[in-house]
Amino acid sequence: MKLNILFCASEMAPFAKTGGLADVAKALPKALSRAGHNVKVVLPRYYKIDKANLEHIPGSIGIDMAGETLWAGIYKTQFEGIEVYFIDYELFFGRGGLYDEGGYAYRDNDKRFIFFSKAAFELAKFLDFKPDIVHSNDWHTASQPILLNTSLKQDDFFKNTASIYTIHNLQHQGVFDKKAFEYLGISPEHFNPFEMEALGGLNLTKGAVYHADIVTTVSKKYAKEIQTPEFGFGLNEHIKAHSYKLFGILNGVDYDEWNPKTDKFIVKNYDVDDLEGKKVCKEDLQNIFRLEKRGDIPLIGFVGRFAEQKGISLIASAIEGLVHLDAQYVFLGTGEKWAEGFFSDISGKYPNFKVYVGYSNELAHKIEAGSDLFLMPSLFEPCGLNQIYSLRYGTLPIVRAVGGLDDTIKNYNPTTKEGNGFKFWDATRDAIYNTVKWAVDTFKFDKEGIEKMIKKAMRERFSWEKSAKEYEKLYLKALEWKK
Ligand code: ADP
Ligand code: GLC
Repeated sequence: MKLNILFCASEMAPFAKTGGLADVAKALPKALSRAGHNVKVVLPRYYKIDKANLEHIPGSIGIDMAGETLWAGIYKTQFEGIEVYFIDYELFFGRGGLYDEGGYAYRDNDKRFIFFSKAAFELAKFLDFKPDIVHSNDWHTASQPILLNTSLKQDDFFKNTASIYTIHNLQHQGVFDKKAFEYLGISPEHFNPFEMEALGGLNLTKGAVYHADIVTTVSKKYAKEIQTPEFGFGLNEHIKAHSYKLFGILNGVDYDEWNPKTDKFIVKNYDVDDLEGKKVCKEDLQNIFRLEKRGDIPLIGFVGRFAEQKGISLIASAIEGLVHLDAQYVFLGTGEKWAEGFFSDISGKYPNFKVYVGYSNELAHKIEAGSDLFLMPSLFEPCGLNQIYSLRYGTLPIVRAVGGLDDTIKNYNPTTKEGNGFKFWDATRDAIYNTVKWAVDTFKFDKEGIEKMIKKAMRERFSWEKSAKEYEKLYLKALEWKK
């Protein structure tokens, strides 16, 4: 059955990206449309997205915000076979950042994203595109399942539309002052602790979990974890109460972009049957970062937001031990100011530790290709994409066994030589240090094991086609339940 899918997100690569949500918002709609569905993606038209490259759609859409109608423009483009629409409203999106600037969240994020969520519905009407499914992602579009199950229930246009809400990261829930409830424009009785009130304020994720026909998250393990106090960020009991409609679907990889055989950013392409290029990529990386050119020393990469989630404090706590191992480190990231300063200081002190503070997709690719090992010691990780990219590049992940990291990485067994990476469980300095040391020693003294793991890792596939099929099944279930 061919479905009309309205896919709404606050970011999508390459137009606007701060993290993995952007990768998913590109690859999943692509896979769904390749599977024959009619998909339209909706994004805000941020300042950085140049209008000159987009098609302007004449006309405008009116969005009611607490009794005031705001008029938005529409832009469109065709990208890798997907139709992408942009909501243009200068006052909200004509800014330097997506959600924040200089470390401070925009104070009107409630208004900005409730507006965007509502605009997507107006756009669907404007285009006369009746969606079977509205797929919303994270708190930015969490008002959509709430609206579909309240005010829009009476709307003929949307009366058969089912909603899917995907949690990519439960840490960010869209918690605002009670005043923000007004922007939803729904009856006041919905503001209660069972639906979307939390500690007197509005919690959009809580409301979405309550109202969505189906809730998903990005790995099976994370679907279980968010029902516990350790990972639930205060919503664990609420999520548990709705677990009958909660499903975990692992993200895939867009192998059109993350593939050492075709990667445009790396100096020499390679693949599992000829790894010569990987050596050249390592030399190139050592060159770029002015590291000693040695083939026998393991190079450990890190790419990610410098956020507590990513285990940056854990790394910091073990750094003195780590830099004294016979290993090299290349870190790419930006985020918490203390971490940017801390890793820069370490980089000035130790010649085997290098950091690039900033955002660079090209460097991210070069690090995936040129490193031997990839460090991802997250405190929590809903799915995580970089460890899966690493597998394809033959760069063995060192991870903490949480969420998607646990679901994708099998710990090395030195006796059977099975596994595709190195895992630890405790979020402690000793655990991370010992595991990195274990990986470094394995790299040096167990060549046979490392080679076997690299080959296995590079042959694994996390295809979006497979995940898209799982979403498809849930879309049909949502439609059935909706009836
Ligand atoms: P999260 O979404 O929690 O940030 P993921 O592992 O799902 O984590 O996705 C992160 C994505 O963002 C990856 O594609 C990664 O390469 C990219 N990324 C993160 N930080 C940077 C950076 N500083 N430069 C380039 N790419 C980055
Ligand atoms: C989030 C998570 C990350 C996940 C990504 C895409 O930002 O932190 O683990 O891979 O979303 O789903």
